[in-house]
Amino acid sequence: MPNDPYNDRDAKVFALYEQLVEIEQRLIPTGLHVFGRPSSAGEKTDLLKMIASFDRPEAGARAIPEELLDDAVREFLENGTDAAVRLTGEGSRPVFNLLETVCTKLQSNNEIDSLVRALRGEFIEPGPGADIIQNPDILPTGRNTHAINPYGVPSAAAFARSEAVATSLLDRYKNENGRYPEAMALVLWGLDNIKTQGEGVAQALWLLGTRPVRDALNRTTSVEAIPLAELGRPRIDVVMTVSGIFRDLFSPTVQLLDKAVRLVAQLDEPLELNYVRKHVMQQVDETRCDLDDAAVRVFSNAPGNYGTNVNFMVMDSQWEREETLGDLFVTRKCFAYGRDSKGRGFEGREARVAMDRALSRVEATYQNIDTFEIGLTDVDHYFEYLGGVSKAVEKRAKARPAIYLSDSLSREVKIRSLEETVRLETRAKTLNPKWYEGMLKHGFRGVAEIENHVSNTFGWSATADAVDDWVYTEVANTFLFDEQMLERLRDLNPHSAHLLAQRLLEANGRGYWEVDASVVDRLREISRNLEDQLEGVT
Ligand code: BEZ
Ligand code: MG
Repeated sequence: MPNDPYNDRDAKVFALYEQLVEIEQRLIPTGLHVFGRPSSAGEKTDLLKMIASFDRPEAGARAIPEELLDDAVREFLENGTDAAVRLTGEGSRPVFNLLETVCTKLQSNNEIDSLVRALRGEFIEPGPGADIIQNPDILPTGRNTHAINPYGVPSAAAFARSEAVATSLLDRYKNENGRYPEAMALVLWGLDNIKTQGEGVAQALWLLGTRPVRDALNRTTSVEAIPLAELGRPRIDVVMTVSGIFRDLFSPTVQLLDKAVRLVAQLDEPLELNYVRKHVMQQVDETRCDLDDAAVRVFSNAPGNYGTNVNFMVMDSQWEREETLGDLFVTRKCFAYGRDSKGRGFEGREARVAMDRALSRVEATYQNIDTFEIGLTDVDHYFEYLGGVSKAVEKRAKARPAIYLSDSLSREVKIRSLEETVRLETRAKTLNPKWYEGMLKHGFRGVAEIENHVSNTFGWSATADAVDDWVYTEVANTFLFDEQMLERLRDLNPHSAHLLAQRLLEANGRGYWEVDASVVDRLREISRNLEDQLEGVT
């Protein structure tokens, strides 16, 4: 039935409902961690619910069904494991045993003691580095974080889980563009791949249509091609920009990813089903370079260097044209890692032309988020990497790429556009009273965190034009145009309040925020008053 107003209305109401539930269910860090202080009762309850809502085959524990979760965790906290098991059935005993262990370990906080012992040069026992919900074994805190064996990456679980992510990612692009992307740029980080046992790596392998192969020592040292008939779609050309930390921690994995690209480039397959081969052959044809040079796809910093510096350039407002940000990204990241067909390794060979070329074909960029605790607007690293590479693509491909994220957090795979993720983060954190009141409890530092979030959001305007006008409008309304709130910020930390006003003015000045002149005037006045106050202080 075309134009059925009721169906249309119902669909809109349902979409709205889904968005509300998504924000509601988001686990929001309420305030900063205070070194040496155990988590509060409220935080503990939220955490236990999250932990109990995932299946944990390694602990033989099944997730508690959503409809029983609140009651079961309350019963557990008030009356213990047996009472909770009576409510949910004997089958759920393992999950409550796990919660008991978590509770005990949460109670004991060894952070200060460990720090003092470390300063004395004593041995600090190691523990895994991971997200607490994905791996509760990280408790107790206050231990020496150890990484994982890079030869175990990606784990079987990470590889299995990543198939659905790669499929959803490609489906989403196809739904929006009518075909698969021929090339994508992926950001891979070290700590994320430790926490997820290599989900980012596994996603890259899936996009290429390859799977890891273990050697006689059970080390992942090779890959094989998944046959096209089994894959059921083309192999995507994947440009990988990896962090300096990833390069250092996952040297064998860097080799594995490079090997996967080279394997795919040499498969005798129709070019319309193998975009890696298509692009490599095109490049060999056009530039008369050899296949080895045309197949370079893993890029990082020069050896010993880290980061893109895009974040510093944005934060210090030291740029005139946006394309400078993308160029800086390439300048920092254009060092190739891998091994040619004769087995000769190259470890950080300058390869700017190769990177420019590889990025010029990219139609979508992507990064996986690995934790509840740190998202797009919490740190400046997401926009320096994913924003930086997207801006670099925009100039080289002469079109802005589609930009996607997914997270390893929810039970179902959920691919979001960058714009959707910025909206979700803004609603769940920056503009959420639960979040900012949690921050404001930390006084000076809390105001700085609020300002950081707004500046990181601004980073997504600068690198990807991904921020709606309403975001800045609501930030101004919430933090600066509310007299009482402004008073609080001014008392706690006038420096950050001033920076916040300045950043909003910059957003308007650079054309990221269209708003009435009267609003800008009001902001200018607030900024001037804060400046006067600061001058009076110093
Ligand atoms: C990493 O783990 O690779 C990473 C950490 C912080 C910023 C950027 C990358
Ligand atoms: Mg805009």
